[in-house]
Amino acid sequence: MGWSSVIIWFLYVSVCGVSSVPDSDPLMYGEVQSPRYPQPYLPNLLEQWDLTVPEGYQIRLTFTHLDIEASAGCHYDSLTVLYNKKLLWKFCGTENSADGHHPGNQPLLSPGNRLTLIFQTDDNNPERHQNVGFSAQYQATDTDECSAPEAADGSGPLCSHICLNTLGSYLCACHHGYELRSDQRTCVLSCGGGIFDEPEGHLFSPGYPNPSPHAVSCQYIISVESGFTIFLNFTDNFHIESLDSQAGPNCLYHWLQVIIPDRKPMKLCGGTSPGLIITDSNTVRLDYHTDDKGQSNGWSLDYSTHRVQCPFPGTVAQGRVTPILSDYFYRDYIYVRCDQGYKLMMGGEELESFSTMCQSSGQWHLPLPECHIIDCGEPEPLLNGGVIFLSGFQNQYRSVVLYHCNEPFYSLFGSANVSFTCEADRKWRSNNAVVVSPTCVPVCGQPTKLIRSYQRIFGGDDAPVDTIPWQALLSVDGSRGGGMVIADRWILTAAHVLISNNGQQQSHRTVRIYMGLTDATSLLDSPNGLYASSIHIHPEYNNPHRLDYNNDIALIKLQEPVIFNSSIMPVCLPAEDVVYIAGIMGQVSGFGVTGNHSSRFLTNKLKYVHVPVVGQQACSRSVSLLKVKRFDIPNLTNNMFCAGVPEGGKDSCQGDSGGPFTLANNGRFWAAGIVSWGIDCGQRGTYGVYTKVSHYLDWINKTMQEN
Ligand SMILES: *[C@@H]1O[C@H](CO)[C@@H](O)[C@H](O)[C@H]1NC(C)=O
Ligand SMILES: *[C@@H]1O[C@H](CO)[C@@H](O)[C@H](O)[C@H]1NC(C)=O
Ligand SMILES: *[C@@H]1O[C@H](CO)[C@@H](O)[C@H](O)[C@H]1NC(C)=O
Ligand SMILES: *[C@@H]1O[C@H](CO)[C@@H](O)[C@H](O)[C@H]1NC(C)=O
Ligand SMILES: *[C@@H]1O[C@H](CO)[C@@H](O)[C@H](O)[C@H]1NC(C)=O
Ligand SMILES: *[C@@H]1O[C@H](CO)[C@@H](O)[C@H](O)[C@H]1NC(C)=O
Repeated sequence: MGWSSVIIWFLYVSVCGVSSVPDSDPLMYGEVQSPRYPQPYLPNLLEQWDLTVPEGYQIRLTFTHLDIEASAGCHYDSLTVLYNKKLLWKFCGTENSADGHHPGNQPLLSPGNRLTLIFQTDDNNPERHQNVGFSAQYQATDTDECSAPEAADGSGPLCSHICLNTLGSYLCACHHGYELRSDQRTCVLSCGGGIFDEPEGHLFSPGYPNPSPHAVSCQYIISVESGFTIFLNFTDNFHIESLDSQAGPNCLYHWLQVIIPDRKPMKLCGGTSPGLIITDSNTVRLDYHTDDKGQSNGWSLDYSTHRVQCPFPGTVAQGRVTPILSDYFYRDYIYVRCDQGYKLMMGGEELESFSTMCQSSGQWHLPLPECHIIDCGEPEPLLNGGVIFLSGFQNQYRSVVLYHCNEPFYSLFGSANVSFTCEADRKWRSNNAVVVSPTCVPVCGQPTKLIRSYQRIFGGDDAPVDTIPWQALLSVDGSRGGGMVIADRWILTAAHVLISNNGQQQSHRTVRIYMGLTDATSLLDSPNGLYASSIHIHPEYNNPHRLDYNNDIALIKLQEPVIFNSSIMPVCLPAEDVVYIAGIMGQVSGFGVTGNHSSRFLTNKLKYVHVPVVGQQACSRSVSLLKVKRFDIPNLTNNMFCAGVPEGGKDSCQGDSGGPFTLANNGRFWAAGIVSWGIDCGQRGTYGVYTKVSHYLDWINKTMQEN
């Protein structure tokens, strides 16, 4: 039976699917026996075994016994062993038979990790032959890949240097000084190159301190965090072959090239160490090259890293840069503070604070700001006063301003002079502990012109202009009355002036107030009569029959405040503890009835007269005497006082009501009384009666505060 027929037949078996071995994990060993072994086998058998062991192993097959009908070429019965469909062996016979082919006791080795065994018998009568078949054991045995012959495809040996067999496989290794390439087979000279990212390190040529091998091409990359620069410090032991020319060493065949980004590469060779190279970079590449001739003894270096340096930041006028260091490095911060009175400015914007960092690029991340002087803005204007600059410029830091009031009509509350300084917190600060914000208060009772001569109203004299600037002329529903200015919005007058003939309180709308002139016609004709915003009659004034003038006092509030000048000024209110001394001379003024016994008329000019205060007992007596003769005499109360002369001829009169009776203290006029009532102006034995203002200080104060 020829070779080819076996193949065809084998294929036929496969198609029939007889005796196929299921796929399973390969075994490490096993046993194969002919059917019925050790009984003689039957004719017409066709059995197949597919033996498999793990990859990287071979199958070692050992027959313990083989007894198959012997024939030439094992033509009748046989055990065929195939590898990869290729016939390896065909066995039959016994150990001693002449025909056939017996495997003997020596183990058989498969080329790979599989073997196929086919046992085939023919239809001969088995009784003639009592052959028992075969029994074999197999086991996986490691392949020694290293001993395999070199591949025929010319790809070279399995391992270029050293082959190490392992169980089921093999490894390649290299001789000292070489390293395995990525193909895991071939070896190249080890450079010791690579990437160095530690802040410090040591680099050297291959084999150093021994001379460098030929045909080296090694690359070293030092790469550290940005913000650091690399220093290369070559040791003195430096030798790279060079061809010396007059221009110096010529690094033609061997060299060490230093490549720094953005700089011209440096080729090093010769016998002199380059020493220290400051790269100003955080990455450096070193390429070491030798060709296949010559000799370089090699080199070594230590590298270190240093923080990048930033330029000196400079100075700021009117400011301070901190900290002051001799050098500034990556991640150093500087701060700028301005001197007192200065502010940080950058690009036209004010900054709360300023700091900048030295960046990895060696540049400060922000330029320095500027310090500009602060200013406090315009000082607050002062009503009825003003502000002048004493020193400084444009309200800048440390400027000093002085507040003043419009003298002599106003004076600063609390202090004669208050200056304010522009402070570092951009606020104007008073130099005065008491006066935190200045206020101008009106000056009272000090007219710019004084009356020199003593005259009278009822038969009194014309008041020169500006001598009684608190005098007010009231027009109440067409009737004339008097009043006096006591504050920039308040007129003090008598209650009865504001009561109509039918006993009703006048509406404030019927009231006009005129001030500042001594000529009634001009005053009343002028459009300048002021309006009242409210009137306040003393709550205890109750005079239905014009016989009870107790509490004859009232206040008128002006719609607009008055700005005082020489023509209009307030009169002072009495001091709390004041006493009205009999005989002391006072001044009464008004636009009331004037004339003599035979002729009386309303005066056009403001009149005044000086009359003394009359003791309360004397006055009371005079009133009592009148009461004996007449029934229409009001009672005199403690809230009233009298003034006048016993012989008569000087008095206040109708139309003067509500006007001022002033006393003077050290040249200051104060409102002692309000013209209230009297009997037959200026008659002998009668006096003018006045509301005693000092009794009403609380009411006046309260009314003004509450309205
Ligand atoms: C360079 O190395 C030498 C010795 O190796 C050492 O003395 C020297 O200080 C080093 N220079 C610098 C800048 O590190
Ligand atoms: C107030 O200031 C003015 C202007 O500086 C000065 O002339 C005057 O003497 C000062 N008065 C007082 C009381 O300080
Ligand atoms: C005083 O002020 C009044 C009211 O504002 C005004 O009419 C008068 O002309 C002023 N007099 C002087 C002397 O300034
Ligand atoms: C009264 O005043 C008028 C007008 O001023 C005058 O003509 C007359 O003489 C005066 N009579 C007496 C008694 O003074
Ligand atoms: C004046 O006083 C007397 C006695 O004290 C009293 O009887 C009388 O009613 C009072 N008259 C007025 C108008 O108050
Ligand atoms: C007015 O009253 C206030 C508080 O009630 C007081 O401080 C002030 O001195 C009083 N003024 C006068 C002039 O009495």
